[in-house]
Formats: sequence, C-alpha cells, structure tokens
Amino acid sequence: MASRPTPADKFSFGLWTVGWQGRDPFGHASRAPLDPVESVHRLAELGAYGVTFHDDDLIPFGADAATRDAQIARFRKALDETGLVVPMVTTDLFQHPVFKDGGFTSNDRDVRRFALRKVLRNVDLAAELGAKTFVMWGGREGGEYDVAKDVQAALERYREAVDLLCQYVIDRGYDLRFALEPKPNEPRGDILLPTVGHALAFISTLAHSERVGLNPEVGHEQMAGLNFVHGIAQALWQGKLFHIDLNGQRGVKYDQDLVFGHGDLLNAFALVDLLEHGGPNGGPGYDGPRHFDYKPSRTEDIDGVWVSAAANMRTYLLLKERVAAFRADPEVAEAMAASKVTELGVPTLGGGEGYAELLADPAAFEEFDADAVAARGFGFIRLNQLAVEHVLGAR
Ligand code: GCO
Ligand code: MN
Ligand code: MN
Repeated sequence: MASRPTPADKFSFGLWTVGWQGRDPFGHASRAPLDPVESVHRLAELGAYGVTFHDDDLIPFGADAATRDAQIARFRKALDETGLVVPMVTTDLFQHPVFKDGGFTSNDRDVRRFALRKVLRNVDLAAELGAKTFVMWGGREGGEYDVAKDVQAALERYREAVDLLCQYVIDRGYDLRFALEPKPNEPRGDILLPTVGHALAFISTLAHSERVGLNPEVGHEQMAGLNFVHGIAQALWQGKLFHIDLNGQRGVKYDQDLVFGHGDLLNAFALVDLLEHGGPNGGPGYDGPRHFDYKPSRTEDIDGVWVSAAANMRTYLLLKERVAAFRADPEVAEAMAASKVTELGVPTLGGGEGYAELLADPAAFEEFDADAVAARGFGFIRLNQLAVEHVLGAR
C-alpha cells in the first residue's frame, strides 16, 4: 500500500482549499474560519511540501500596511517553522464586488487599472516568497449577456494586462512565470479563455509567450465535457504545463472541487500515468508541484477537512503505485504493442522521405488492401480492461 506523503512528492494546497468555510449561493458558512498559520502547520504534519494563496486569503482586502506586514510576518514564521515552501501565488480578482464585471477585462477602465495595481503588488510578494509560478484564474472575466461584452476588445485588454505583467517581471528580474487557469463558467455565465485550447491559442498572441503557460484544473475541463488527460497531454506537448490543479468532478455540472480521484477515477489513473511517466512514446511528463485545488465539502467538520486533505495525497500516491504496476506488467506491454500504441511513435514518413517518395510507394496506395486492414481489430478494450484491473488492484 502507498507510502506516507513526504515533501519529495511535491504536494501543495491552496490556503483557500482547507480554509473554505462552506459558504455557497444557497447557504451560510458551515465551518469556522481557519488561521493560515494553523493550515501551514497541519499541512506540513500531513506531509505536504507547499502552500499557495491568493493575496486576500492571507491579508484581508483593504488592510492597512501594518496589518499586511504583520500577517506576512506570521505566515513567514510558520513557513520557517515547518519548512513548507510557497511554489505559487495568485491574486483574488473575483470576491470583492468591485470586480463584478471582471478585473483585467471589466468594462470599467478604472477597475482595470486597479486590478493591475493589485496584481503588481502581489507579484512583488510572490517573488519575495520565492514563488516560481503566478497563477491567473480570471473567474470574473466574462459575462452573462452577449450584447454587453465586446469579447474581441476584452481579449485585447486581457492581452494588454498579461503583456504588462510579463514586462514588469522581466524588468524586475524575477524568476517567475505566469500560468493561466481556464474555466468555462461559474461564477460568470461564460468565462473568457474557457478551456485549455482557448488559453493556448491566446498565449500564442502574447509579447512574451514563453513566460506564460497553463494551470489547468481537472474539474474545469470536465465541466466543459472535455477529456482532462487530452488537454494535459497537449499542454505538455506544447511545453505549457507550468502548474496543475488536481481535484475531482462528476460530469457537466457546477464546479464541484471534489477530492482528487473522487470523480472520474479512470481518467485520474491515466493522468497520474502521464504526469509521472510521460506518454508511452517518450512524450514529456511533469515535475512541478502536485497542487490540490479542492473544497472540503460543506458537510464536513474541521476533522473532515484534514481527512479530505490527506485523502487527496493518498489517492494520488495509490494511483502512482497502481500506474507503476501497470507500466511494469509484461501483459500490458504486449497489449500496448498489439494495439499499436507504440507504433504511433513511429513517424509516418521514412527517413528522408517526402511526398515524392510517398507518391512513388505502391505499398502505400496501389497495393494497399484497405478491406484487409479494416478487418483487423485494435484490441483497445483488452488494453483498457488491463488498466481497470490495475486500478482495482486485481493484478
Ligand atoms: C475554481 C478555481 C479557483 C482558482 C483559484 C486560483 O475552483 O473555480 O479553481 O479555485 O484556481 O482561485 O485563483
Ligand atoms: Mn474549480
Ligand atoms: Mn483552480
């Protein structure tokens, strides 16, 4: 059975995850506030290596300089006492009603200027704390009414903001990269950059696109009915998986933010396989933080919060163990070869071949027996059943 989590596993949690009080659109908080200092200590005891936060998770919005400094000092002390690191920082541009029409893309220019100032201040804090990734989840960037938002202008303003932030980080010499977090909806009816694909396309238009990647979240792609593993594979293939939000989601509905694996478990298995080992044909894996962005359900008391935090890490480690067994199973290797999974790693053209050689190859067309090839099965179900049996611990 899986070992206890240790800092080497690079598990991290947002302060806002364990600190979520269970407030939702229909009900009041079901738990008392949690002191960030307490969270740091508890997460360290459970085996996490990192903690992340929005500015407002640590420092109340609008706090004076003395309160801000005191909160940061207390937090730093907890980090020093526990050895926890801050791999990522992010800015809250969604809770205060000033951001009700967005931060970087609000129709109101004054709000956009304020949002940029809020983020710039937080970028300084991120650099001071040694964070390497700055996440930008534009939860309020979007709208409900098509005629009320010029999406093309909004994308211009989004790009203007990200270009400015990149320039700032470059000029200050910070070792910090930005990671955009797509989400299709909630809290806005429609959020800009709704999926991994939209965000990748947006990044390609930026002045410093090399400094900007993605922080995809399991549930967000699944809310759009998309396959998270496919999205992550493409992000890795394009060198853009800068960070990741692990959690669970059961289908196309509101953002559940369940514990990792408490949604589509088979997809989570394939995800851990991809992150840990890369693709079966040598495509890149991921060595950054395994960051959990989940919400301990509102039904749980504070003990349940820590049970749920531990559950995220344990599920990841169990899947990692199951994935290693899957990869080491000779029958799986044989089934992968029979399914031609590994043949996909072979280029379609031979060395030095171009279209002229392809056109001159009768085996590729004139002599190709399409009906005979069509009659061959790929054996994907057998291969998938082997995966299911490894997940179930039956092999
Ligand atoms: C969500 C989002 C948020 C962001 C986080 C970072 O569940 O809608 O994941 O939790 O990740 O706020 O800004
Ligand atoms: Mn979410
Ligand atoms: Mn997230």
